[in-house]
Amino acid sequence: MADLPQDLRTALDAVLSNAPSKELSASFQRLSTRYREEQAATAPIMATPTDVVTYSAYRMPATFAAVRSALEQVAAVLPEFGPANQLDLGGGTGAAIWAAADTWPSLSAVTVLEQVTEAIALGKKLARGAASPAVRGASWIPGRLDQSAAFEPADLVTVSYVLSELSATQQQDLVARLCAQQGLVVLVEPGTPGGYERIVAARDQLIAAGHSVIAPCPHDLACPIPRGRDWCHFTSRVNRSAVHRRTKGAELGFEDEKFSYVVTSAVARGQAGNRVLRHPQQRKGLVSLRLCTDAGQLQEAIVSKRQGPLYRAARDTEFGDPWPPLGDAGS
Ligand SMILES: C[S@@+](CC[C@H](N)C(=O)[O-])C[C@H]1O[C@@H](n2cnc3c(N)ncnc32)[C@H](O)[C@@H]1O
Repeated sequence: MADLPQDLRTALDAVLSNAPSKELSASFQRLSTRYREEQAATAPIMATPTDVVTYSAYRMPATFAAVRSALEQVAAVLPEFGPANQLDLGGGTGAAIWAAADTWPSLSAVTVLEQVTEAIALGKKLARGAASPAVRGASWIPGRLDQSAAFEPADLVTVSYVLSELSATQQQDLVARLCAQQGLVVLVEPGTPGGYERIVAARDQLIAAGHSVIAPCPHDLACPIPRGRDWCHFTSRVNRSAVHRRTKGAELGFEDEKFSYVVTSAVARGQAGNRVLRHPQQRKGLVSLRLCTDAGQLQEAIVSKRQGPLYRAARDTEFGDPWPPLGDAGS
């Protein structure tokens, strides 16, 4: 569960408490239909101030949760990593900067590049109440990714839920520019077959340029997941606020955000070992783990109750965790 930090929850509640429900619902219908198409956009999808507020109500908590989960895995693989600065491309209302600041208090300077000025305005408004000085003091640069000058080098570059809005050529051009970054490159997309394909294409391009994968893959070999039949994705559970539920017309108090992601580095190396893909499946006395191995293969590991500590460790395992676990249970 990636709960929103209290300061972000408070900031969102303040913005959303007086937002007219009817307008938000209409905007939600349009935005959610459009985002599900996963088609390149010739004009910004968030077109009005209401769209931006709607986005912050129904998508920002979910994109925050996805990026936060991905960064959690990076922090586990690279415990020494403590970025000082972040560049967030296509930052929208700022979900990825909140997620980075929540993961690494070391962050002191943040730049967001975004084409929609209303998203910038709302992002700044939300950031005013942030506990993190980096989020509060973020520089918000209006502009388009493809027209901006060279990206400033940063310890952490995030591109969250943006690739699907770009054409295939624009995606390649953007990733080519990311290849030149010495800091960590974080790409997150919806956990759909299309999102996974975009992530794999970017991953291949970054590896060909000399990057190494930090997460989720424990190797830089070709992705072993059979194309067309399966796709690598993860989930993060998000609590829905009252206005979130109202905007979506949803009843449940939570939702599971599916996402695909890759994090690479031109300088750091990932960890060898097996990595757990997907949430472990539990049956009576058995836990089944889907693993990606450092030999670039998929493996199913079945752990039975008879295996005592290993079984208990398997029950507590989450996606992205190493397997067997480090420490006593794995020995
Ligand atoms: C789905 S939103 C994601 C926002 C944010 N990164 C998040 O994770 O919540 C995609 C964002 O990318 C921005 N975007 C898309 N294409 C862009 C471009 N060519 N230049 C700048 N921003 C762009 C959109 O305006 C929008 O704010």
